[in-house]
Amino acid sequence: MRTPVIAGNWKMNLLRDDAVALARDVASALDGSTGVEVVVCPVFTVLSSVAEAFAGGSVEVGGQNCYGVESGAFTGEISPQMLRDAGCAWTIIGHSERRQIFNESDALLNKKLHFALASGLKVMFCIGETLEERESGAMNDVLRRQVIEGLKGLDDTDFTRVVLAYEPVWAIGTGVTATPEQAEEAHAFTRELVAEAFGGTVAADLRIQYGGSVKPDNAAELLAKENVDGALVGGAALQADSFAAIVKAAR
Ligand code: PGA
Repeated sequence: MRTPVIAGNWKMNLLRDDAVALARDVASALDGSTGVEVVVCPVFTVLSSVAEAFAGGSVEVGGQNCYGVESGAFTGEISPQMLRDAGCAWTIIGHSERRQIFNESDALLNKKLHFALASGLKVMFCIGETLEERESGAMNDVLRRQVIEGLKGLDDTDFTRVVLAYEPVWAIGTGVTATPEQAEEAHAFTRELVAEAFGGTVAADLRIQYGGSVKPDNAAELLAKENVDGALVGGAALQADSFAAIVKAAR
């Protein structure tokens, strides 16, 4: 049995007061939720305040990105140690917005993944194809490359702290969700890739979240699919009631 993970990716939104208010609302809306892990990923500047707002509860806090070095002359970057210092247990790595807007390569993401794990963080590692890649029939090759290059060198112990997030780029922030069947097909294929490269036990235990326009009204049917083990939620995570409804759908 894989425990579902529902994560809210707040992206570059919310100043401190609004972020703390949302965290408090989420905490009270989720009061008593069991059987599902919940993570919230706010912007760096409010991490400590949001971590404080969730302190003593079961919701964990994560960064949206981090660099592959502990400290030094890397202007504008942040290290896993700094995320932990701010109260994070998790980080996202390889979100499509990082891959596309900031040109992060598979090799860089692999380096960041190894360093984040070695630094004690748990990681949600994102993969997913663009519309053009899907329509041209390149989807499976893209997922294969992202899985093989991105996860290269991980051992069985590392995998206990990794969650994959399948996020088709065409479904992110567009209101167009993958159908449950499309999601299941991509998740099953991804699990097969992991089995080939890292073994059946790792693949069977690995949680794969779906991300891309997850909303309260489509969450239950996506999460009901055999290989969908959670959700990475953007827009709908900015409202406590819709985020809580998605968490409930995962229970
Ligand atoms: P969305 O974002 O739910 O707004 O589509 C998901 C994500 O980018 O993680």
